[in-house]
Amino acid sequence: MVNVVGLGYIGLPTALMMASHGVEVVGTDYNKELVSTLNAGKTTFKEDGLDALFQRALAAGVRFTTEYQKTDVYIISVPTPYDKFSKKVDACYVVGALREVMKVCPKGATVVIESTISPGTIDKFVRPMVEASGFTIGEDIHLVHAPERIIPGNMVYELVHNNRTIGADEPAVGEKVKALYASFCQGEIVVTSIKTAEMTKVVENTFRAVNIAFANELAKICRHDGMDVYDIIRICNMHPRVNILTPGPGVGGHCIPVDPWFLVGDYPSLTKVIGEAMKVNDSMPGYVLERIAHIMRERGMTDVSRVGLYGLTYKENVDDFRESPTLQLLECQEKHLAEPLKVYDPMVKKDVVKNQYHDLDKFLADVDLVVIMVGHSELREHMDKLRGKVVLDTRNICRLPDTYTL
Ligand SMILES: NC(=O)c1ccc[n+]([C@@H]2O[C@H](COP(=O)([O-])OP(=O)(O)OC[C@H]3O[C@@H](n4cnc5c(N)ncnc54)[C@H](O)[C@@H]3O)[C@@H](O)[C@H]2O)c1
Repeated sequence: MVNVVGLGYIGLPTALMMASHGVEVVGTDYNKELVSTLNAGKTTFKEDGLDALFQRALAAGVRFTTEYQKTDVYIISVPTPYDKFSKKVDACYVVGALREVMKVCPKGATVVIESTISPGTIDKFVRPMVEASGFTIGEDIHLVHAPERIIPGNMVYELVHNNRTIGADEPAVGEKVKALYASFCQGEIVVTSIKTAEMTKVVENTFRAVNIAFANELAKICRHDGMDVYDIIRICNMHPRVNILTPGPGVGGHCIPVDPWFLVGDYPSLTKVIGEAMKVNDSMPGYVLERIAHIMRERGMTDVSRVGLYGLTYKENVDDFRESPTLQLLECQEKHLAEPLKVYDPMVKKDVVKNQYHDLDKFLADVDLVVIMVGHSELREHMDKLRGKVVLDTRNICRLPDTYTL
């Protein structure tokens, strides 16, 4: 039996996927409300294919509880933020979950850390705690790191089709955990050391962050000197060895704005490019605010209450708004203006910020300048509704007149 600890964006689909592929799974989360929702037969976030997967897993016998189980495999999938001052990984959730697991864990169990962690985290935080609980690693307990790569919006597909990395002290243990993931994963599963697995996951997200920062910096250069960044990127990408990403209003979510900081925190003198790239990405919401001010001046618009942000989530067609560029922009704006900008997002049903709308038409009726922060399908399908508005399109998806870009 597998006990998946942490039933959020990663733990829940992982638990459901294993359960619907013949593995006996119990999911544990200390959030009682979340567990009750799951036990009431409802999923806790929106994701393509998740509800159907949930039904299959329920039929296969998956269970949800706040209790940690006595079993032979644990998969820990709890948050791993970074410490805002040191920039290092904040392992407090991993340590907290592990502390509870160690209270019930029998001899011979395998503990898989699935959360994203910086290289050396298992050595620094996990091993000492496991040993202090009276276990001998490699003899009566086995440690594995199996980082997750799936992207919100396409999680269910990617869980099945992505390649994976399993880091273990002993290859045989790595192979055993590989077989568990292979119950549903059709991608290639590489078995390596724990530290290599820790580093590869962080490097993958750092690669993305640095490349996004490059595109964002190009947008600023091109704006400064009257060049069209999108046309320039399009032409550059016709080169066989160039593949520039698209600029945007910043980065959000639980991964790209977080994980690269782990490297900056751990290797401050060796991460000049990474550190600067993170600063460029972090500067983008403020840059969008400057673009709004510039456009308002140019158009003779004076009423800030007639400016609205379309999109609150950190990417299109998901309901996750953690660390989103819109939230960062609002935080930045609050320092300058008393009244926050109007916001609308079809994916976010609950009230998260002030001046939030839940109806597109009402939102559009109350604003003259629409800032496209997220390119949800809803907007792409109803772009015509923006006709007559001044638009600042940070995603380069609007072809209407009166549209400005980054
Ligand atoms: N969200 C993503 O897109 C994504 C993608 C790849 C990897 N990851 C990584 O996966 C890990 C989990 O991220 P997430 O997005 O699923 O986080 P999340 O916040 O959505 O879920 C974490 C869950 O863990 C629970 N939890 C925390 N401490 C606990 C404890 N001691 N006992 C039981 N439950 C506990 C919380 O209640 C929460 O439900 C992170 O390390 C993240 O970096 C996330």
